[in-house]
Amino acid sequence: MTHLQGNERARYVRDMFARISKRYDLMNRLMSAGRDGAWRRTVISLAQLPPGARILDVATGTGDMMAEALRQHPDALAVGSDFTFEMMRAGKSKPATHRIRWCAADAHRLPFRDDSFDAVTSGFGVRNFIDRESAFSEQRRVLKSGGRVVCLEISKPPRNALRPLFLLYFNRLVPLAGGIISGERDAYAYLPQSVNEFLSPEELKAVMLRAGLRDVTYRRLMFGTVAIHVGAK
Ligand SMILES: C[S@@+](CC[C@H](N)C(=O)[O-])C[C@H]1O[C@@H](n2cnc3c(N)ncnc32)[C@H](O)[C@@H]1O
Repeated sequence: MTHLQGNERARYVRDMFARISKRYDLMNRLMSAGRDGAWRRTVISLAQLPPGARILDVATGTGDMMAEALRQHPDALAVGSDFTFEMMRAGKSKPATHRIRWCAADAHRLPFRDDSFDAVTSGFGVRNFIDRESAFSEQRRVLKSGGRVVCLEISKPPRNALRPLFLLYFNRLVPLAGGIISGERDAYAYLPQSVNEFLSPEELKAVMLRAGLRDVTYRRLMFGTVAIHVGAK
């Protein structure tokens, strides 16, 4: 997959998520050892939403980030956008997502006006993007001045004694478990490929700064294998 570029790569990513959409939530819980709910709570609190906020989650998948936003801020207007219909369809069947406004959109070309959201979030989406800098520029464009971009993503594991264990986990155990649970072993081979080519938190911070965001900070979670970045407009 890593050799694919442009539209071909986008098509590959979309097909892969379409195939695993029905089992995606279950795999997410297993792969994060049940921690992803806590990470999403942190993302939404870092978004610092005002009363009656408008929030957008790009690459929203099955909608868990916006379900958390609405749980913390029942008065918010929460939009979830993604380019894989099957992921959003799987998300729509969950009770906690019934107030989400779903939108089919590529993260590189968001169909929203400039300055329309108080915060823009993403969870495990950025590493799939073909051009991460332009995707963050789009997030910045649709964000109101003073608003925040908050990004939850898997990180390149730090070089320490635990690194070989994490690589074994991502490269061997996840494809095996994913293959058994979803029946789509190829699709779960994509995760380690996309993780191994992913950025360190410092590199991702630099991309966000180049996209025009300011005051970019991050915190590392899960022994440095996950990071939450925050940037402002
Ligand atoms: C790993 S899932 C993450 C889903 C969800 N955000 C979460 O936190 O569980 C990645 C999602 O990114 C979406 N995606 C990847 N590239 C995209 C793009 N260029 N535009 C829109 N969505 C994209 C996929 O369709 C998929 O639903």
